[in-house]
Amino acid sequence: MRIEIPRESERFGSLQINGLQKVYELDGGEGVHGQDTVIERIPSEVLYDRMREMAIIVPVKDERLKLIEGVLVGIPSPCQVIVVSNSRRGSIDRFKMEKEALENYGKFAKKKILVVHQKDPALAQAFIEGSYETLIDDNMEVRSGKAEGMIIGTIMAKWLGKKYLGFVDSDNYFPGSVMEYVYEYAAGFSMNSNINTFVRISWHSKPKIIESNLFFAKWGRSSMNSNKMLNNLLSHFSGFETEIVKTGNAGEHALTTNLALKLEFASGYAVETNHFINLLEKYGGIIEEEAQKVKQENITVCQIESRNPHMHESKGDEHIEDMIDASLSVIYHSKLCPEILKQDIMENVRARRNKNPPRIIEPIRKYPSLEHLDTDEFFCKWESLNFDALIIR
Ligand code: GDD
Ligand code: MG
Repeated sequence: MRIEIPRESERFGSLQINGLQKVYELDGGEGVHGQDTVIERIPSEVLYDRMREMAIIVPVKDERLKLIEGVLVGIPSPCQVIVVSNSRRGSIDRFKMEKEALENYGKFAKKKILVVHQKDPALAQAFIEGSYETLIDDNMEVRSGKAEGMIIGTIMAKWLGKKYLGFVDSDNYFPGSVMEYVYEYAAGFSMNSNINTFVRISWHSKPKIIESNLFFAKWGRSSMNSNKMLNNLLSHFSGFETEIVKTGNAGEHALTTNLALKLEFASGYAVETNHFINLLEKYGGIIEEEAQKVKQENITVCQIESRNPHMHESKGDEHIEDMIDASLSVIYHSKLCPEILKQDIMENVRARRNKNPPRIIEPIRKYPSLEHLDTDEFFCKWESLNFDALIIR
């Protein structure tokens, strides 16, 4: 891959946020890893080395089987795939269908695939054993939500001994874009050897039909809102206006497992924006008590602009508005949020929701970092139980 070296970055405490990097060649060939003043050339074997140590986590909730299979088609073969499903298991058992479809697919592709169900009682028992009860609901199951599925995926990646983990949504129509995301994750980790690296993808475009023509929109509504508010927050602390954040709620992102275990997760769709907020709270050097609690290590956030258009299932306007509310809520309720930004956020909610007085932004449930999970107890319990998973090695 040939990829731009970040032109700018913003620093807050031990957190470095790099500006968006463009990709100039998806496959830059084999040979020497090198750079000139503006471009780094990462040979394909270096990318493969990263992928061999990477798990790709695919959260699924009642998606069409053809879409899920397409996503797996796009994941390069060195990666370990971890599918975390929260699909319905009633008279029509969608999870059973997913396992059958992926088992069949696995025979052709010879991929390493693990498929687990979010509501598997074995998972809930293992989390309880590891003293991480906050993830468990009144039915003694892991709570529903994308972030909750991501927590399971993260711990499964640790169980499988992976150094890196990345997320790709299961409702993506283009296997080629999935493949590109994974290459870019690997490129981000190749350019940043820091054990606390976060790679976040900004989609190049999202195709839409407008007046019978294809239009490639640059920003989705939720990114527009969360990026703007996160940048306003950064500007407040640095005193300089910035637009550095382009991936506030990037669903497609990857982290070193080391960093993933240190971050707090917010429930559902607030998870990505909250990762940014949590990084600033913990490592931004702004909150004195937080700075004292954590071991000061450097954290790098690397943002890469993909080239393929991104196309996924359309889930409706209300779903998007709810996602924006959730993202803004974690900014609003952060200790970092200044009064002036709170007013901006409420103004935004009022304008979008057309409600006067504005509805109060509900605080979102937060899960402590997985450092609070006793992983030895978790793995010991999990391995001793009869879990209902598909494992293809
Ligand atoms: N395991 C699990 N559990 N997966 C879930 C759950 C759940 O409870 N809920 C949703 N998913 C899966 C979906 O099947 C899909 O693959 C993925 O999570 C994302 O859910 P979508 O409902 O398709 O989200 P979206 O497309 O509106 O939003 C995406 O992009 C946003 C940025 O624009 C997500 O990735 C968001 O997290 C992201 O902020
Ligand atoms: Mg989607």
